[in-house]
Amino acid sequence: MTASPTSPAVAGSLSVAGSFSVAGSFPLAGSFPLAGSRATVPPTATASAWWRDAVVYQVYIRSFVDANGDGIGDLAGIITGLDHLEALGVDAIWLTPCYPSPQLDHGYDVADYFAVDPVYGDLATFDRLVAEARRRSIRVLMDVVPNHCSSEHAWFRAALDAAPGSPERARFYFRDGRGRLGELPPNNWRSVFGGSTWTRVTEADGSPGQWYLHTFSPWQPDFDWSCPDVVAMFRSMLTFWFDRGVEGFRADAVAVVGKAPELPDAPPVPEGTAENDAWAHNPYTVFWPTAHDHWRDWRRLIDDYEAANPGREIVTVSEAYTPDRPDLLLRFVNPEQFHQSFCFDLMLAPWRVDTLRATIEPVEATLSAAGAPLTWTMNNHDTQRAVTRYGRSDAAELSSWTKNNLVYTGTPVDLALGTVRARAAIALVAALPGSLYLFQGEELGLPEVLDLPLGARQDPIFFRTDGREPGRDGCRVPLPWSADPTTSYGFSPATSPATSTATSTATSTATSPATVSPWMPQPGGWGNYSVEQQHDAPESMLALYRSVLSARRACLDPDAGLEWPTSTHPDVLMFHRGDVTVVVNVGADEVMIADVCASAPRLASSRLLLSSSAGHDDPTRLPGNTCCWFASS
Ligand code: GLC
Ligand code: CA
Repeated sequence: MTASPTSPAVAGSLSVAGSFSVAGSFPLAGSFPLAGSRATVPPTATASAWWRDAVVYQVYIRSFVDANGDGIGDLAGIITGLDHLEALGVDAIWLTPCYPSPQLDHGYDVADYFAVDPVYGDLATFDRLVAEARRRSIRVLMDVVPNHCSSEHAWFRAALDAAPGSPERARFYFRDGRGRLGELPPNNWRSVFGGSTWTRVTEADGSPGQWYLHTFSPWQPDFDWSCPDVVAMFRSMLTFWFDRGVEGFRADAVAVVGKAPELPDAPPVPEGTAENDAWAHNPYTVFWPTAHDHWRDWRRLIDDYEAANPGREIVTVSEAYTPDRPDLLLRFVNPEQFHQSFCFDLMLAPWRVDTLRATIEPVEATLSAAGAPLTWTMNNHDTQRAVTRYGRSDAAELSSWTKNNLVYTGTPVDLALGTVRARAAIALVAALPGSLYLFQGEELGLPEVLDLPLGARQDPIFFRTDGREPGRDGCRVPLPWSADPTTSYGFSPATSPATSTATSTATSTATSPATVSPWMPQPGGWGNYSVEQQHDAPESMLALYRSVLSARRACLDPDAGLEWPTSTHPDVLMFHRGDVTVVVNVGADEVMIADVCASAPRLASSRLLLSSSAGHDDPTRLPGNTCCWFASS
């Protein structure tokens, strides 16, 4: 039996007879121990936990370092990059999914939650990575994808083989279609990546069959969490990786895991809603509350695990976009559920004083009042890179920011401007209370690659929207480590054994003379951004990141909150954090510090701790698009 996805780019990959083989490391029948009655454990002492003000670096594995020369980043490559991360000053790395996967959403389509994709390595290499990271005091977090698996997961393949109403199908959302012959999808839900959330399957006898639900692409069937097998499998998975030394998980797409049991039609979307935003208005899955029972169950499992394993301090961080609703974050980040939840509003805010303050202040106030830790980020693998966002000609226009991280305007980009703003932005966000998640390459000031050849694009968003949305490939281009184009700028080794090109999906039009093309082509001149080029350059983005992270550690009191003096200048955002005063000039023109002292008198006698502007060390002046930290001394 086959389901019938429609994207021409990857059609056929769902075929049961397809070539991807699943390493079935757990049984199909639900044989995992279910949560028993819970032993009483003391609440986790989160007040001093390492992660509350940690800097976590997101490693997008396939683009970090390719150690074996097949053009795809791998676990052994991450080990070679650890010295760079240690020098940068990060406390932990978060690995994007490294599980076996057909890679149709680059690992967010998991075929086996208990193994490593052979393209990335094996469990022994994974263990070595954890040990090597620990040697450098860097913890390793993984990515757990609870909403869906890959259509190549053994459970889904079994569900396709099984009959309607079978236990195999009960792990997913299989439903009969509407219409006289069941030819219409069971409801009107729209998928995040475009199109319907339903795909029809062909039954064993060859007849058109039931439909299954996929919030994202057809290659990512949603689990039905009311099925005990699903609950048990994830409990088992978490423990499996904790036992290997993993210190926590970033939990993917948690806001859509719950579903109203009857799967009713979603109400009409508000007038003017963009096609790509329709899914977000579906109240029968977005923030549907049943999922919270499972997050509570996970937290109990973790609390019990910590109690049974003294010294372990595990963190979970949930990915839930809650535009302008910090109160919604509290549904996820609380002592019974996730330890952290990304505060995305700042990442999606225009570059202007009113919006920056109007995002930071309520998030900080709401979470702090509830005792919930703050978790900031300015970049990730789903979002246009900050250098490009802030370089757009409409970067300060309210109307241009959709608050949907998958949708951006196509206005012209001034990279020089975007870079100075991104420099100011990292100095700003690093000064906020809470933890900070970085995305690989932002420390090099990488821009979004906007002109990838069409044939190189791999993001399902691009295919599912028929190219109307370019998707996220442009922030996922392999990192430059050196200026040497013959090694894909140091991404791949100098002599490439290229033993496993059979699994490579490289489609590069080869902008570089590398022996092996990286899986996604790098633009010419990419080497100028490399670690090697920036390493000893005091004015580089890399140097700025290092000094910001070290100043954060040295000068900021982790317990200090924010105070907001009223700024007397329309382009200047200002806050106190303990003894440190942070001043950001979002305008193009220089501002004299004396002109803003009226609202923060202590600035007059403060010392300049750092400036985001290369070469700037004059405490009396604040150049345009610059963030400075001052210490009252
Ligand atoms: C999350 C991930 C994204 C992925 C999606 C589906 O938003 O960050 O990369 O495509 O979930 O798993
Ligand atoms: Ca490789």
